[in-house]
Amino acid sequence: MLAQRLKAPSQDNSSNITPMGFIFVCTDKSEKYMLESLTFPQSKAYGHRVFAVKPEDYIFLYNLDSDTLYGPFLAETEGQYDPNLELFEGKYPYYVKVKTIGDIKKLKNASIFLSKLGISWRDYLTNKGARALISVLEGKALPKKDEGYIDKDYRPPIFSTTLWDYPKQSYGTTPKGNNKYPGVTPAFIIYNLIWRYTKPGDLVLDPMAGSGTTIDVCKEERRRVIAFDIVPTRKDIIQADARALPLKDGVVDLVFIDSPYGDNIKYNDHPRNIGHIPATDERFYDELEKVMVECNRVMKERAVLGWLIGDQWAKGVFVPVGLKIYERLTKYFEPIDIVCVVRRNQASNTPFWQSKALQHNFFLRGFKYLIIVKKSSKRKSKELNIKWNFYER
Ligand SMILES: C[S@@+](CC[C@H](N)C(=O)[O-])C[C@H]1O[C@@H](n2cnc3c(N)ncnc32)[C@H](O)[C@@H]1O
Repeated sequence: MLAQRLKAPSQDNSSNITPMGFIFVCTDKSEKYMLESLTFPQSKAYGHRVFAVKPEDYIFLYNLDSDTLYGPFLAETEGQYDPNLELFEGKYPYYVKVKTIGDIKKLKNASIFLSKLGISWRDYLTNKGARALISVLEGKALPKKDEGYIDKDYRPPIFSTTLWDYPKQSYGTTPKGNNKYPGVTPAFIIYNLIWRYTKPGDLVLDPMAGSGTTIDVCKEERRRVIAFDIVPTRKDIIQADARALPLKDGVVDLVFIDSPYGDNIKYNDHPRNIGHIPATDERFYDELEKVMVECNRVMKERAVLGWLIGDQWAKGVFVPVGLKIYERLTKYFEPIDIVCVVRRNQASNTPFWQSKALQHNFFLRGFKYLIIVKKSSKRKSKELNIKWNFYER
């Protein structure tokens, strides 16, 4: 099911988008500026939330220091990004302009009311949720807790650990890629990578684009995107071999690639499809190494590459495909991290295969690796401004 923002098509000319609710945050330091200017800037950490806002959505402002909620406001614009915004030393480049609806109401001890409604300020509120919050601000009787106040499928979370798990291939009001395409990528992986490693307007490359999930995610998040495949499935994918990309050197800000994992999936009959070579054959890694070299060539210095890959267990033979790809990648790139992506909706995750796995003592694949690396730079990278501590248990 897609997120709840879309209304059923109607006869009248009104927008077919149902307004949702967003709680923006401020501190004692920023509250005055925000309430006076009716501009709600947020830092990079909340950029993804700001970009989810559409004009006419309900906006609330929550002061984290004083636990006070203000509102309701209406978004005048969709979420904006301005890297030159001088405000608060340029640390808040994402913003929305809002307008008031009557007087601005103020709710003290807001966290108590939010918790009674079952809402966190990090949630995406449905129209029903936004209206419940407005009625609390207006001093009306507290509405009952309701699961329908939150739209959990509107956007995936931005993960803070190296274990990523999300139940759906797509999210939001428009499909991302085609979930019927064999080996389609879960869209939340690309969403997380672009919000971590790029800014709006940056160029993202997918050299093995399949059904175009990367294109759909990037467009919605306002990144430029270029996608290739040996057999394009749609007009915005360009026919090319990922080992010879028609791109200049040093132009790409982020590469995402979900390559074949061997010959386990039949994508197409093209003779240059690397997915014809089994993962037990060293040639498979040699050909993917050519893709790595080509990606490295077109990437800017310090640009990041995320490579999604799974291991193989077939006919009694285990092949650590992920580890072998990691080994090849680190010949050309500096490692950043490895994320474990939980595999859901696997074709093999059926009672039949579960019982076979126990009977014959093997494991079904439960995760994929997302290997994150970067193109090295001759320049020294900036030291992280974080005070590191050692914690004792
Ligand atoms: C796992 S799928 C990609 C899925 C895609 N990210 C999506 O969400 O639909 C791998 C893709 O690699 C493509 N491919 C295989 N060999 C290729 C090559 N030499 N050059 C470009 N694409 C290739 C296949 O056609 C297939 O579409």
